[in-house]
Amino acid sequence: MAVIFFCCKGLSPLYSSSTNLPPQVYWVFLSPLFLLFYGFCFPIASIISLPFLAARMSATEIDTNVELWKMKRLIKNLEQARGNGTSMISLVLPPRSQISQTVKMLADEYGTASNIKSRVNRLSVLSAITSAQQRLKLYNKIPNNGLVVYCGTIITDEGKEKKVNIDFEPFKPINTSLYMCDNKFHVEALSELLESDNKFGFIIMDGNGSLFASLSGNTREILHKFSIELPKKHGRGGQSALRFARLREEKRHNYVRKVSEIATQVFITNDKVNVTGLILAGSADFKADLVKSDMLDQRLAAKVLKLVDVSYGGENGFNQAIDLSQEVLQNVKFMQEKKLISSYFDEISLDTGKTVYGVEDTLKALEMGAIETLIVWENLDISRLSLKIANGDIIFKNLTKEQELNKDNLLDPETNTEAEIVNRKPLLEWIAETYKDYGASLEFITNRSTEGSQFVRGFGGIGGILRYKLDVADLGGDDDDFYYDSD
Ligand SMILES: *[C@@H]1O[C@H](CO)[C@@H](O)[C@H](O)[C@H]1NC(C)=O
Ligand SMILES: *[C@@H]1O[C@H](CO)[C@@H](O)[C@H](O)[C@H]1NC(C)=O
Ligand SMILES: *[C@@H]1O[C@H](CO)[C@@H](O)[C@H](O)[C@H]1NC(C)=O
Ligand SMILES: *[C@@H]1O[C@H](CO)[C@@H](O)[C@H](O)[C@H]1NC(C)=O
Ligand SMILES: *[C@@H]1O[C@H](CO)[C@@H](O)[C@H](O)[C@H]1NC(C)=O
Ligand SMILES: *[C@@H]1O[C@H](CO)[C@@H](O)[C@H](O)[C@H]1NC(C)=O
Repeated sequence: MAVIFFCCKGLSPLYSSSTNLPPQVYWVFLSPLFLLFYGFCFPIASIISLPFLAARMSATEIDTNVELWKMKRLIKNLEQARGNGTSMISLVLPPRSQISQTVKMLADEYGTASNIKSRVNRLSVLSAITSAQQRLKLYNKIPNNGLVVYCGTIITDEGKEKKVNIDFEPFKPINTSLYMCDNKFHVEALSELLESDNKFGFIIMDGNGSLFASLSGNTREILHKFSIELPKKHGRGGQSALRFARLREEKRHNYVRKVSEIATQVFITNDKVNVTGLILAGSADFKADLVKSDMLDQRLAAKVLKLVDVSYGGENGFNQAIDLSQEVLQNVKFMQEKKLISSYFDEISLDTGKTVYGVEDTLKALEMGAIETLIVWENLDISRLSLKIANGDIIFKNLTKEQELNKDNLLDPETNTEAEIVNRKPLLEWIAETYKDYGASLEFITNRSTEGSQFVRGFGGIGGILRYKLDVADLGGDDDDFYYDSD
């Protein structure tokens, strides 16, 4: 206990997590449901064997869906990992932070940790700090999106000790600063990056001026701002009142026009809206006037998710608007998933013959280059087994854990004896690596929406929308019965 206290408490003032999403966001990820949700796919023991953990991940080759999925899997593995004692280091450095400062902090930590009484614990803490230092040496500056380092010794499922040393640049900017030494890795900041992978635009508009900004994950960016002086409402009485009112109206009108024009400059690139959605905020009626007026570009008007009342202008108003629109922002991802799966279901109900589902048919169609959009459940628990058969050839089978237990599924078709498993890898990993070779696009879905859940239960969690009509019967797949377990 003493060590926990010393290790974590001692450091928190300088390196504490600074994030700004509400706590429930974490809870989505840390709740038992979440753990259950992610919990059964890949055992901790595989944490070391994942190739992308060993190598430093590069943020230059961005394939967002795959990056997101890998990140989810990484988070799950890290989250489940447990150490012996409090010697697991989590280090998160935001963009533009100073490596030298972190190097100094680690050196100080090393000094303090040398005083830990328990020899075993001392050695493991020192070793983790040393690993973290070595990882930092690989960088001469913090990468553009920040840097994440996890070092420590974990206890595997078999009760063995294993060293885990990971460093990578997140696939998008991480606005969190964290140093923790605990009996587990802290992944909340990464979870947050995932939960909101869209970029949203904000316009904060009131009688003093307007601010244009974007939000992606917990990273805010001010894109433009200007202030304005509008005539007060009751400036003068008498004769000039009417003229004054007209003048005032005109000024306000021009102001709305100016905001509309800047919105177009800031949120439209090459004729396309470059944000997923827009939030309009402000203390007065301006935001409503903006939507009502036909001055706001129609493409932008179509993206308005919500109007929110905030009590401040400028950056404070921006922060308040973020808080007040959390729910809407969370739902967007969900809506995209619903839309995708609905379009898949539509193809089925129209009987166009342009869909496949189930492992065998889908993989066959994929390998034929027939799949336009491959849809897979992010937790699909199927392994791709390489079996060595009697004549020395390797054949591939794609089996669930239960199917693997049934030795009939592992038979050598020639000799009818059990074939030797020479390699096993998660099918999703194979898909993530190869789908592009077959000209498909890849979408990972969850089972959190009704549609997603239906897709997972009724269609085996894997399917595709085809480029052209294909008679599935010709593919020779036979898993139709297996997957129709409708309830
Ligand atoms: C999603 O799948 C998990 C299994 O991974 C299951 O426990 C959970 O109940 C499913 N959720 C829904 C909403 O179907
Ligand atoms: C965990 O640490 C204790 C001492 O702190 C040690 O006795 C024990 O062998 C360790 N367990 C493993 C699995 O390394
Ligand atoms: C302009 O800002 C001042 C404070 O600086 C505030 O009192 C006032 O309400 C703001 N006006 C509008 C129209 O938002
Ligand atoms: C990072 O988060 C802090 C704390 O919430 C916030 O004040 C800051 O504006 C954020 N920085 C960026 C670049 O988003
Ligand atoms: C959208 O595009 C404009 C013009 O290319 C650019 O200035 C702006 O930063 C972009 N906005 C976002 C939110 O990426
Ligand atoms: C298993 O998947 C691989 C692709 O990973 C595919 O080539 C093979 O045909 C599949 N095996 C069966 C029996 O469907």
